[in-house]
Amino acid sequence: MLFGAFNVNNMEIIQAIVDAANEENSPVILQASSSAIKYARIGYLRKMIEAALEEYDIPIALHLDHGPDFETCKMCIDNGFSSVMIDGSKYSFEENIDLTKKVVEYAHSRGVVVEAELGKLAGIEDDVNVSDSDAMYTNPDEAKEFVNRTGCDSLAIAIGTSHGAYKFKGEAKLRFDILEKVKEKLPNTPIVLHGASTVIPELVEICNKYGGNIPGAKGVPDEMLHEASLRGVSKINVDTDLRLAMTAAIRKVFAEEPEAFDPRKYMTPARELIKQTVKHKIKDVFGSSNKA
Ligand code: G3H
Ligand code: 13P
Ligand code: ZN
Repeated sequence: MLFGAFNVNNMEIIQAIVDAANEENSPVILQASSSAIKYARIGYLRKMIEAALEEYDIPIALHLDHGPDFETCKMCIDNGFSSVMIDGSKYSFEENIDLTKKVVEYAHSRGVVVEAELGKLAGIEDDVNVSDSDAMYTNPDEAKEFVNRTGCDSLAIAIGTSHGAYKFKGEAKLRFDILEKVKEKLPNTPIVLHGASTVIPELVEICNKYGGNIPGAKGVPDEMLHEASLRGVSKINVDTDLRLAMTAAIRKVFAEEPEAFDPRKYMTPARELIKQTVKHKIKDVFGSSNKA
């Protein structure tokens, strides 16, 4: 089973995602990074997710994305998150193991599951800066040792994706051979793909048409995400496509209706375009729809 995990940082994004998931009768993971939590404030995020849970019957998980340290993971666990990610990928193998183990111990004793990361994605992850030249694919043998020694519940791996709107300079290429080896060594560990936005060309085009400047943006094509799911990826992280959808819709209103200044004038189409984007992913790419 493949789950989409969508990044959230405000009410409209949360509503758009859960509205889409509900219409598709699909389980959904909402995730917040530490900078998103700083922005939205943890109590607000928590209450908004509670509101979504009251409104709909679908399973909705709240996940910490790229937890940078034990304290942030603890704060989220103590605030009712269903799962946390500890991202120790910037540390050495042994340091990553120590940190992940500490989070796993705390989380498991409170019924919370833990995603960890091994290998480095090119690009920027929160406070973690990894230059292209340092980009390091996940080593399948190390992955097995890492999961065995830490007891983490799922593992994010590096097979060539990166965060943001500029994932590939030339053709999109992912190391499915590495994914296959990791799955051979860890057949029962859910594998997570970060940096998995498609960077939907139509959204980039709308942004650029209405005053944006995002030339040459490129993401992971839908066919590749489909292939990743066939080869055992269980969770696919999406943030950039939602950002593009929101920006595209807002830019269009600003350009076409310069007299508009009621935020609902532009937040309503923004929420709608995020919802359509999430519906498309659930239905056509991830296949998690259970719509009758
Ligand atoms: O993996 C990174 C996510 O897109 C979150 O980004 O730290 O800017 O919220 P952020
Ligand atoms: P994108 O930048 O490709 O949307 O990736 C998001 C992500 O991996 C969040 O953890
Ligand atoms: Zn990520």
